[in-house]
This record gives sequence, C-alpha cells and structure tokens, in this order.
Amino acid sequence: MPSVPKILRTLRGVQSDTPPIWIMRQAGRYLPEYLAVRQQAGDFLTLCYTPDLAAEVTLQPIDRFDLDAAIIFSDILVVSHGLGQKVWFEAGEGPRLEPLTSMEDIKSLDRPGMKDRLSPVYEAVSKVRAKLPEDKALIGFCGAPWTVATYMIEGGGSKDHVMTRAFAYRHPDAFSALIDILVDASIEHLKLQIAAGAQIVQVFDSWAGSLTAEGFSRWCSEPIARIASAIRAHAPDVPVIGFPRGAGAHLPGFVSASMVDAVALDTSADLDWVRSQLPATVPMQGNLDPALMLSDADQVRDAVFKIRRAMRGRPHVLNLGHGIPKEADIAMVEALISAARMPLGDLMALAHAS
Ligand code: CP3
Repeated sequence: MPSVPKILRTLRGVQSDTPPIWIMRQAGRYLPEYLAVRQQAGDFLTLCYTPDLAAEVTLQPIDRFDLDAAIIFSDILVVSHGLGQKVWFEAGEGPRLEPLTSMEDIKSLDRPGMKDRLSPVYEAVSKVRAKLPEDKALIGFCGAPWTVATYMIEGGGSKDHVMTRAFAYRHPDAFSALIDILVDASIEHLKLQIAAGAQIVQVFDSWAGSLTAEGFSRWCSEPIARIASAIRAHAPDVPVIGFPRGAGAHLPGFVSASMVDAVALDTSADLDWVRSQLPATVPMQGNLDPALMLSDADQVRDAVFKIRRAMRGRPHVLNLGHGIPKEADIAMVEALISAARMPLGDLMALAHAS
C-alpha cells in the first residue's frame, strides 16, 4: 500500500505523537548549496523559471534535513509576471514591478497568457514529484489576492500598503476587478500545480495585517474563500492552508469564513488564546519565531516543547511563523528538527533539566 505522507494525514485532521515539520522558505540563502545554484542561475526569476534548477533547490532541504514536505521553489509574484506585468528582482532590494495605476492597466493584464508563461513552474513541480520519496508531500502555493495586489499597485514591497488601500477607496471598481482577476488566476495556478503533482497548497496573505476589520473580511477572507472552495470542488483530497499573517483578533473569523482546511499562525499569535478561540479539529501550523534560528539549541528545544505541549490533542504541523532568515544557523535548524521528532516526554525531561 502506498504510504500517505504524515503531513497529509495531519492536515486531514489526524493527530500524531510527533508533528510533521517543514520550514517556511526552507530552500533559501541560509543554505550554501542554494547559494551555489542561485549563483549559477544568475537571476532569481531565472532560477524560478529553469525547471531543473528550481527542482534541484526545492529538493535540497529535503536531502539535507529529511523534512516531511517540500515546497516548490517559486515566488508569489510569478502570478503577476504570468499576467504580463513587468516584474524583476533587484539584488539585495527585493521585488520591483511596474505599478498598476488605473482600470486601463488592470484591463490590459493578459489573463489567458498566464498558463503558458508559467509552464516552467508546472514542469518544475512534476520534476520534484518524480524525485521526491513517496512519504514526503509536495506543497504548491500562491500569494493571496490582497498581498499580490499590494505588490502590483505599490510597484514593490511597502510597509503599510497605503497606496493600495487608497487605490481601493479611489477606484473601487478597478480594485474589485483586480482582486477578481487574481482570484481566478490563483485558482488556475493552484490547479495546474496540483495537476503537476502538488498534494497540498498554501495561500500566503503576508500583508493581511494592514487591512481594516471590514477590509480584512472583504479583501482577505472572501477572496481566499473563493479560492479554497474552488480547490475543494476540483481536488477534495488536497488540503488548503491559509496564512493570514497579522490577522490578530480576526483569526477566528478567518477560519470560519475562508473555507481553508488548516491555518498557518504568525509569530504574534498567542497559543492559549488561539486554543480558546479555534475548534480543536482545525489543523494548525507555524508560530515559532524565525529569530530562534539565530539563537542557541536550548532555546530552540524549549520553544518546540512549549508549542508541542500547547498543541497536544490537536492536528499540528511544526513550522516557523514566517520565513527563515538568510542569517539562520544550520545547527539551529537541526536542533528544531530533532526536538520535533523526539517523544514529548523526553523533550519535557530535557526542557525541565536545563
Ligand atoms: O519556502 C520556500 O522555500 C519556497 C519558496 C518561496 C519563495 N518566496 C522564494 C524566495 C516562497 C513560498 C515565497 C513566498 C513569498 N514571496 C511571499 C510570501 C511569504 C512571506 O515571506 O511572507 C512573499 C511576500 C514573497 C515576495 C518576495 N519574494 C519578497 C518580498 C522577496 C524579497 C525578500 C527576500 O527575502 O529577499 C522575494 C524573493 C525571494 N523569494 C527569495 C526566495 C528564496 C530571495 C531571493 C534570492 O534568492 O535572491
């Protein structure tokens, strides 16, 4: 009988003695083998669009750490690029885009052309699935419409997304049209990753925290609900993880409104509060502070113990609350994984002994 990856069982609601583990941005600049391939590719987007190289870096953290899941090496902004927007990455400065400023700009996005432009991503997914052991799952992903829209309108990263929020007030029809295009494009992008071999999908709403209460419901929960419902109808076996970063008090509302199967928690979520607010059946992922990856092994172990104790009796995927920093110490990643895999009683004894 083929073995079902542990993380898939967890995301379907089954608890286990030790949580499955993967690490947000696990293929990245803290790994020397990533840096070598990154240099070979030259440009970041070239790496994303070269299937052999993208597949190679996707598999690197699995080979090194034996994690429970691989996440396809790509970026949330390939969807903007796939829609025909100009996107590039300035070394050391992050993403840059030619900003959308009007309904005309939004209407000129090339929705039908996306599939062909992003075909190298789907090819990379199938190459990874072919090489990945059967007991490891492959995660596909997209950015949530709100987060991707902030990059498309601001022309890059921004602290407070004020131009995007202002655009939604000044051009409500154009903003709605952009969100609709992104919902539709995200659904197609996820379906094509699933067709190529992705078994789980995650929707990253990294900037959900800059929305008002009303905006959160309208631009975070609702568009994600449309995406999650479409994926459930198309591929009921593929769990959808939602990551509404910065949701704070909106988290319970998000879980009931967004139709996701599981929720990824950011670093600010208080686990006692989360437990009191969310049904015990909702699988939860994340929350560990990425800065722990620059601390020491005792602190990593204690943090893993606390989160595992708090999540006892619930389906739980161990992960960081945001991406691993490029300065991360590989020894801390190893400490994290060993604490994840230890029986809880042994971990408790170690945590109390120190
Ligand atoms: O987790 C993985 O290993 C898969 C790969 C992955 C990347 N980006 C690769 C990447 C994933 C899942 C993402 C998602 C992503 N991209 C998000 C959502 C998650 C989050 O962090 O909140 C966002 C907001 C982006 C947009 C983006 N891409 C930014 C802001 C940056 C620059 C920031 C930085 O760390 O430099 C990127 C570039 C990027 N995406 C890198 C990687 C490995 C670094 C680029 C490089 O190697 O030069």
